[in-house]
Amino acid sequence: MCLACDTKLSAESLDEFGGRYLDILNHGALAVMISIGYRTGLFAAMRKAGPATSHELAETAGLHERYVREWLGAMTCGGIATCDETSSVFSLLPAASASLTGSDGAENLAYLAQYVAMMGSVEDKIIDCFHRGGGIPYSDFPRFHEVMAQDSAQTVVGALFEHILPLVPGLALSLHNGIDVLDIGCGRGKALLAMAKQFPNSRFTGWDLSAEATRDAANEAHALGLTNVRFEVRDLSDFDKTAPSADFNLITAFDAIHDQARPDHVLAGIRRALRPDGVFLMQDIGASSNVAENRDHLIGTLLYSLSCTHCMTVSLSQGGLGVGAMWGEQMTREFLTNAGFSSVARHTLPHDIQNYYYLVKP
Ligand SMILES: C[S@@+](CC[C@H](N)C(=O)[O-])C[C@H]1O[C@@H](n2cnc3c(N)ncnc32)[C@H](O)[C@@H]1O
Repeated sequence: MCLACDTKLSAESLDEFGGRYLDILNHGALAVMISIGYRTGLFAAMRKAGPATSHELAETAGLHERYVREWLGAMTCGGIATCDETSSVFSLLPAASASLTGSDGAENLAYLAQYVAMMGSVEDKIIDCFHRGGGIPYSDFPRFHEVMAQDSAQTVVGALFEHILPLVPGLALSLHNGIDVLDIGCGRGKALLAMAKQFPNSRFTGWDLSAEATRDAANEAHALGLTNVRFEVRDLSDFDKTAPSADFNLITAFDAIHDQARPDHVLAGIRRALRPDGVFLMQDIGASSNVAENRDHLIGTLLYSLSCTHCMTVSLSQGGLGVGAMWGEQMTREFLTNAGFSSVARHTLPHDIQNYYYLVKP
């Protein structure tokens, strides 16, 4: 009997959920092992070695065989690798090899599994927040900026010149001629660095809360010999008051507004910092603000979970609004309107199943 709905559960529905639940446990575990395979270089070693025993793979990757053998067990049961019954030789499935090592010109998507592992690493602290409220700060996610930079390099930089910047008519020409660009919540600055390299006549500024991320970005700019880009530590929580007036032709925010302590203040500041004919290009999570409308979202479960254990909590830890990654289009538009923007066009791009691209004008 289901106590919540007072109906008798059939044996089939219990069996069906039982099967699903086993899938959930297997897939959750597999994601953590994929993260380990990516970080230890085991996927790259499997691709390099071809069919190989655990001993051969351990040697190729420079790792302890006993751990490699157990990891291969998970990959085999998880349908990522095959194991020859007599020789105990392991091979990556061709499609898995393409997706998890970037072979055959495919994108290497293995880095994404690190987000699942990251959630587990803060479980105790998040449970504490469920009891006492508040949030946990960026300093509790020691590898966050590293993983985010890997993410940005693939999802933003990889599509920047071909798909993202062309959303703004005439922008490539303006950038070529020379304009002022600001990136909000720039992290390690992968997108700005790529633009600064491509458009030497334009001037680029990146602001972010993180001293570590902006330092790494500045070091990379220096290593690349770029003199038209600067990165600064800025807490943008009061950007509505501290924003310069009409300094920038283009302001970008890649996957950054929903994480802010005060997205409302940040958007009001962006409105002020834009020149009258300027454009704000904002990439943010594609979703509805209404949870029921997200039921069939391809990665809704993952995004709500990441929001709970990262995006929402880092904002709450700053005393912020904690709008969360899944704040959705309706709330985004409301915030943009309240910030004083009058024109908002929302685009999707085929390479990106996760985000909307908002073209916003004063
Ligand atoms: C999801 S990351 C995106 C980073 C970068 N745009 C990228 O695509 O790699 C969000 C960024 O917002 C920054 N951030 C969060 N709160 C902030 C605040 N109060 N002021 C300035 N930046 C903040 C974080 O440090 C982080 O780098």
